[in-house]
Amino acid sequence: MVIFYTEMQHDFSQNTDQQVRQHPNMDTPNSFPNEIRTARLTLSRPDLADAAGLHKAVAASYTELSRWMVWARGSYSIDDAQQFCAHAKGSFDAGVHFLIRLPEDGTIIGAAELTTIDAEVPSFEIGYWIHTSYSGFGYVTEAAHALTSFAFVKLGSNRVQIRMDEKNHRSWAIPMRLGYELEATLTSYSRDNLGELAAYRVYAMFNLEQLRPLKEFPT
Ligand SMILES: CC(C)(COP(=O)(O)OP(=O)(O)OC[C@H]1O[C@@H](n2cnc3c(N)ncnc32)[C@H](O)[C@@H]1OP(=O)(O)O)[C@@H](O)C(=O)NCCC(=O)NCCS
Repeated sequence: MVIFYTEMQHDFSQNTDQQVRQHPNMDTPNSFPNEIRTARLTLSRPDLADAAGLHKAVAASYTELSRWMVWARGSYSIDDAQQFCAHAKGSFDAGVHFLIRLPEDGTIIGAAELTTIDAEVPSFEIGYWIHTSYSGFGYVTEAAHALTSFAFVKLGSNRVQIRMDEKNHRSWAIPMRLGYELEATLTSYSRDNLGELAAYRVYAMFNLEQLRPLKEFPT
C-alpha cells in the first residue's frame, strides 16, 4: 500500500471517532502503508535489500548519530544494518520504521519512525535521523510532518509526541517548526552517550489543526 501525502490532507474531514474504531488492525504491521510519498521524499518500510544503503548512510553520519542516538553507542556494522532491516520489516512492537529516500534514485538519506505509545488512546511517538550531508534542507521536518499527519488522519491519534535530549537543539527545532507545544522538560531523565545525565524535552500535539502547513517553511 502506498499513501500519497496529499491524499492524507484531503482525508482530514473523515478523522472521526468512528474512523478510530474502524482501525481494529492497528496493532499489526499490515495496517501501515509500505510507502508514504511527500513532495520531495519517499518514506518506505525497510527491506533486507536496503541494508547496504542504510549502512552507508549511517557510516557517513556516525559522528552526529553517536552523539544522540542510543543505538549508536558502539560501532555500526553491516550486520547491524541487516538486523535492523530484518527486525523493522517484521516487527510492530519496536515501532513502524520508514527509511527516508530521495525519490529520484532511491538513495537512503535517513530514517523516521512512528511508535505506538498506547493503542487505546491512541497515541504515538515520532523519532528521526538524517544523513549529515542532507541536513539543513528541511527533509526531516517534511518527514515528521507526514508522520504527524498520518497519525492523526489515518490512525485517529489523540496525541503525538517527540522526545529528545534538551541539548539536541537541531532535534527540538523540528517539533517547534511544526507547531508542537513544549509540554514538559524531564530532569535527569536519561544518560546520554557520553555517560552524562540528560534532561529531556517532550513536545506534543493533540490534533491536526495544530500542525503548521509545510508551505510556511522556507524552500
Ligand atoms: C536532529 C536532526 C534530524 C535535524 O536535522 P535537520 O537537517 O536540522 O532538520 P531538517 O531536515 O528539518 O532541516 C532543518 C533546516 O533546514 C532548513 N530548511 C530549508 N528548507 C526547508 C524547508 N523546506 N522546510 C523546513 N526547513 C527547511 C531550516 O531552516 C533548518 O535550517 P537550520 O539548519 O539553519 O536551522 C539531525 O541533526 C540529526 O539527524 N541528528 C542526529 C540524530 C538525532 O539527533 N536525531 C534526533 C534524536 S531525538
